[in-house]
Amino acid sequence: LNYRVPRTRRDIFQTLIKGLQRLEYRGYDSAGVAVDGSGKDHAASISLYKKTGKVKALDEEIYKNNAIDFEAELDTHFGIAHTRWATHGEPSPVNSHPHRSDKNNEFVVIHNGIITNYKELRKYLVSKGYEFESETDTEVIPKLIKYLYDNRENEYVSFSTLVERVIKQLEGAFALVFKSIHFPGEAVATRRGSPLLIGVRCQYELSTEQIPVHSTSSSSSSSCLMPSTKLHPAGHITSLHIAIIEHTNKVIYLEDDDVAVVMEGKLYVHRIKRKAGEDPVRVIQTLQMELQQIMKGNFKAFMQKEIFEQPESVVNTMRGRICFDSNTVILGGLSDHLKEIKRCRRLILIGCGTSYHAGVATRQILEELTELPVMVELASDFLDRITPVFRDDVCFFISQSGETADTLMALRYCKQRGALTVGVTNTVGSSICRETDCGVHINAGPEVGVASTKAYTSQFVSLIMFALMMSEDRLSMQQRRLEIINGLKKLPELIKEVLALDDQIKSIADELYHQRSLLVMGRGYNYATCLEGALKIKEITYMHSEGIMAGELKHGPLALIDKHMPVIMIIMRDACYKKCHNALQQITARQGRPIILCCQDDPEISKMAYKTIELPQTVDCLQGILSVIPLQLISFHLAVLRGYDVDYPRNLAKSVTVE
Ligand code: G6P
Repeated sequence: LNYRVPRTRRDIFQTLIKGLQRLEYRGYDSAGVAVDGSGKDHAASISLYKKTGKVKALDEEIYKNNAIDFEAELDTHFGIAHTRWATHGEPSPVNSHPHRSDKNNEFVVIHNGIITNYKELRKYLVSKGYEFESETDTEVIPKLIKYLYDNRENEYVSFSTLVERVIKQLEGAFALVFKSIHFPGEAVATRRGSPLLIGVRCQYELSTEQIPVHSTSSSSSSSCLMPSTKLHPAGHITSLHIAIIEHTNKVIYLEDDDVAVVMEGKLYVHRIKRKAGEDPVRVIQTLQMELQQIMKGNFKAFMQKEIFEQPESVVNTMRGRICFDSNTVILGGLSDHLKEIKRCRRLILIGCGTSYHAGVATRQILEELTELPVMVELASDFLDRITPVFRDDVCFFISQSGETADTLMALRYCKQRGALTVGVTNTVGSSICRETDCGVHINAGPEVGVASTKAYTSQFVSLIMFALMMSEDRLSMQQRRLEIINGLKKLPELIKEVLALDDQIKSIADELYHQRSLLVMGRGYNYATCLEGALKIKEITYMHSEGIMAGELKHGPLALIDKHMPVIMIIMRDACYKKCHNALQQITARQGRPIILCCQDDPEISKMAYKTIELPQTVDCLQGILSVIPLQLISFHLAVLRGYDVDYPRNLAKSVTVE
């Protein structure tokens, strides 16, 4: 946070803490801030405050501190703050950011990402006499910059040159912001592989839509930074726009190896070395996101709000893309590549967690309508296997956040092998959006709850729309396409019908919440629902839950069944109905007492069920959009009844930006 008009120290803390709280939904275990010290020459020292737990704990810690003069007014200031989700080293104040070079806090750094060669660097710095206080990978960064500063001999070295020299030594992924008592009022930010953006809040009307990027030779000792027109970015640097959206909607996304310097209230961006043909400007973009969109409203939790938003979010996904009169679907982000996609050898859908399940859910209809082989892959496993990828493959990267490290790495892997890459994301401007050749924005609106809900149904709808677009000129498929398009039209109303079952679902949760385990069973189009339902349950209720392919029942899971084991079965009127019925008989024959998600008016199923949740029927390939909702709701109620924090499940993060 940087500003150029007088502010009290209280304002500074409040702005930083609020920004952190907006990021908290991504996962947290500790937080910290660094601001200029108190006293007349406040920039001559840096104060660090860190705390384990929620950001609120840090806030309370700061306000308990009698040594801070909260009313002191400062003319110019650059403060940094960070929430951490532990990768190296347990959550503790010493492991949390900002990390420092030494006990005097000469250099302090915040980092998002992972430094893979930190062990070598740490060994080297220890041999030079540097003492490490944390177990983190990040701590090598402030130590290294101090080492370079201390060994600059008589040369004048600017702050940004020091940072450039540091990042030359780093391997891995990072977004970094540096602050130092040797460069008061100045800050340097840079990135490689992790997102970083600058919020521009001008005191004057913007005189430009873009800022020029200059290149500096990495060997030069003092980078010559040209002022970037008349920008006065009394603004913010962040890894995610949500942290700053209440201050500004004008942002500049930094690219890998961009170095941004804020000095005397002005912003300069340059590159270490500009490659030929590279874009010489960074455009100032205007974000169309309202703060109220990300607030909780009257709901108990963001997750609950997001479940209930689904009638609207699926409409937003389809808006302007489906013409119900002509039965055509146009996904603008793919149009230019459609010919190439149609000629491809196979489709590969890649994602993690819920996003992977969206691929599982739509695979069958994609196979049917495109007549192409479709692989669905967990990003981590796909990379572990060093899966063969060819130039005529089309690879989809499904990701709500657009930042998941495994998915992003799989994207780079496929790109290197010449495949066409397609993003399916919910975050405009995210890394996956920017690095793919083309893509679909699912337009579900911001999703805050760690357990993904509306993003899943919107990913589902997006992939169905893609299948429809691919089959537009196939005469033999028109009847089927028409059926699906009509199904999509009615979907929002049917989702409302399912949401109206909330009280009934809550009463089922009342019976189940003390259980330790919950199995979810189904097959065909609804197998993905089982996986996704079980994931929701384990994520937020901490109960053991397993999504079981009913076709595999006899090959193992049946051994789990007795009158005590809670089982939810999904039995819809589709091609698998009879087979599911058989599975149901096998369960009841072992005294199992299944709760069954079935279609309305199915007396035969109801007879054999302990309880039923009756859902409206839709086209087979869309049924999973409806059947997942009771499971989203059940997991929400179970988590509330068990007393857990629905939006912030332990050990999990919304956006996993590390491998
Ligand atoms: C994390 C989240 C999950 C999410 C997964 C993939 O594990 O907790 O809810 O499904 O990442 O995230 P993405 O943003 O790539 O969809």
